[in-house]
Amino acid sequence: MDYKKEIERLKAALPVTIVSHYYQRDEVFEIADIVGDSLELARKCQNDPNEWIIFCGVGFMGQSVKVISPEKRVLMPRIACCAMAKMIDDTYFDQSVAYMTERGIAKENILPITYINSDASVKAKVGEMGGMVCTSANAYKIIQKGLESGKKILFVPDRCLGQNFAIQMGLKSCVIGVGECDPKEADVICFNGFCSVHQLFTPADVEFYRRKYPDIKIAVHPECDPKVTALADFVGSTSQLIKYVNELDIDQKVAVGTEYNLVNRMRKANTYVLSSTKPECPTMNETTLEDLYRTLKSIEDGDPINEIFVDEHTSKYAKLALTRMLEVQ
Ligand code: 13P
Ligand code: SF4
Repeated sequence: MDYKKEIERLKAALPVTIVSHYYQRDEVFEIADIVGDSLELARKCQNDPNEWIIFCGVGFMGQSVKVISPEKRVLMPRIACCAMAKMIDDTYFDQSVAYMTERGIAKENILPITYINSDASVKAKVGEMGGMVCTSANAYKIIQKGLESGKKILFVPDRCLGQNFAIQMGLKSCVIGVGECDPKEADVICFNGFCSVHQLFTPADVEFYRRKYPDIKIAVHPECDPKVTALADFVGSTSQLIKYVNELDIDQKVAVGTEYNLVNRMRKANTYVLSSTKPECPTMNETTLEDLYRTLKSIEDGDPINEIFVDEHTSKYAKLALTRMLEVQ
């Protein structure tokens, strides 16, 4: 079957919007109506007029759309779970809060911030405590906003993102379970989660490219280890990386530290993948054109598959945390 042709037919016949994150396979990415980084996708879906959102990405992304716009029907061709998001659940979140209270920080003096790469149940816990969601594109502003409360920031689940922004902002940070982590001595207390894809990039990779091409620029995602971001010329979200690379002179060599599908799609000349190991996100790569076709066909057949639902309590508090983020410009 010609899946591409059938998808185009179904797209024209149904009130659907196909959404794709930058890390999706090219054939899926190219057929989408809306593309973007996590923040852009959350905003664009909120303003989309169609009843049905077909989200090609990882679970927390589709879940966030459903929480922000409960009236929408959100289907995911694959409900693939981001490995980092899986590292924390509401129990681990409670344990992280307890870690701080046991070390003398009262619960009312903790402001939790969760990276959007987390389950709705974690976002709900954060929302209940007056906290916010952030993405890699707005973490600086969100942490800054959080600090206005005068409270300690509990940052979950990505230790790298938490530490990278703390360093950028001149704040003290520590990671629970790694060395001495005294919440009284730090401004940002991070949960020990990480992205296995972005851990592939190492200082040795940066040194390799700098030795080979002394004038090369290094651009990386903030999910990379602080030892790597410290050596980079630019650190940014997926959209910010695209903008940075696009604005470089075409003769300027650049090595990019983020997921393979995106780097491979960037301008072909003088762009390198900052790793000798292909940095593919297994869960982002799960979605195929066939999955997308089956999902659209299920709507046409009146029996939708892979629909995202979030229970009322979780949705109510996760929405608070997401809305607080969306209100920060
Ligand atoms: P962005 O928000 O930068 O698109 O990143 C999402 C993600 O999962 C990166 O690994
Ligand atoms: Fe999750 Fe990492 Fe994949 Fe992003 S690249 S979706 S953080 S596993």
